[in-house]
Amino acid sequence: MATAPQIQSVIDYRHLVQDGRLHGSLYTSPQIFADEMEQIFHRGWSFVAHDSEIPNTGDFVVRRVGTQSLIAVRSKDGEVHVFYNRCPHRGATLCQTSSGHRSRIACPYHAWTFALDGRLIGLPDEAAYPADFSKADAGLTPVARMDSYGGFIFVNLIPNELTLREHLGHATELIDALLGLSPTGRIQLSAGWMKHKMRSNWKMIVENQVDGYHAPMVHGSLIAANRTFATVRDRKPTSPTRVRDFGMGHSDIDHASDYRAAGDRLFRWTGGIDPERLPGYVKAMNDAYGPEDARRRLIEGPPHSMLFPNLSLAEMNIMVIEPVSPQHSIQYTIPVFLEGADDLNARTLRRCEGAMGPAGMLIADDAEIGELTQMGVANLEPEWIILSRGMGKEEVLANGVKLAGLMDETSQRGFWTHYREVMAASQEVSQ
Ligand code: FES
Ligand SMILES: [Fe+2]
Repeated sequence: MATAPQIQSVIDYRHLVQDGRLHGSLYTSPQIFADEMEQIFHRGWSFVAHDSEIPNTGDFVVRRVGTQSLIAVRSKDGEVHVFYNRCPHRGATLCQTSSGHRSRIACPYHAWTFALDGRLIGLPDEAAYPADFSKADAGLTPVARMDSYGGFIFVNLIPNELTLREHLGHATELIDALLGLSPTGRIQLSAGWMKHKMRSNWKMIVENQVDGYHAPMVHGSLIAANRTFATVRDRKPTSPTRVRDFGMGHSDIDHASDYRAAGDRLFRWTGGIDPERLPGYVKAMNDAYGPEDARRRLIEGPPHSMLFPNLSLAEMNIMVIEPVSPQHSIQYTIPVFLEGADDLNARTLRRCEGAMGPAGMLIADDAEIGELTQMGVANLEPEWIILSRGMGKEEVLANGVKLAGLMDETSQRGFWTHYREVMAASQEVSQ
């Protein structure tokens, strides 16, 4: 189990994160960034990989969570293991590629070799070690906790008091909604990840994922060029779309309320494709869920959400945010393929490339505004960022979920409220 270094910070997070305003240093301070890696990414649950990325024995992916490089690999018994990407001998990096397939894991330095379940199974000249050396004590180190929901695998490096289910809370319904678009209830993340370097703080990307305020301005050229994109959703302040704060830092833009209000039309979430062009998928959904429930699912579509701290179910894309430094992040994007929906998946891939690819029409806008915001907050004045839009007007449901208008900053405040609790509480415990 990883040990936690003592926290030296004297940063007052309850002062820096206030209801309705934030201090600009939250996006620029190296000390705050270091605290976040420790408190949020190492002590909390973070997404690491999806089950479908490593379907076969020996498949692996390498992922970064906080400052740590991790290997997620499937062993012979079908189990997924997540190990630190570090050789127990003298510390070399074991896997240097982002994904691959191996029958065993061999270290490039002195060729210690490990089974897929982490056992040390071979090393050159073993007899030279002292008598008390035991291979059983020199296997790969697994992360302290690993759990999954709907195939999404999460890790918790320094165990906190929460189970994964407690961490996800009401956000499980967002994962359920995405999986429920597949006739089998399963998705496949098999297309390969696109990787974008973003010159902005990771939290700006989180905030932007569920920001309903910026689209008409930042994506103005796309809206002007693409009538379908412009008209399929009502992007005005009067839109029936709600933003929702689910608690625990999770939030979404619930476009389903807009799609429902717009009438009984399927597939508005695909850009308005005619259902007759997807006969195989529609039939499979009807067979799986019955015509009425299938119809509801195909009207409402996928969630547009951000799960604290690094996983976005971004409609038919999955997006993962990897912090690099206070000013830099990597955004990974992959299209969601629905098992049993090959005719839709081909379109999903094209849409993902068109919106999120290297020449994509959507991500370039968001990357640029993120960079401009990062440059802006580097200026010391006016010091505070205003985040009060719609504050106090939210509808609070019996289960605590908050609803607000499309252009309100309720989703961002939901993130920051949880951020403040995590950052300040850990600090208070350590003092
Ligand atoms: S560091 Fe890995 S075998 Fe020596
Ligand atoms: Fe955007």
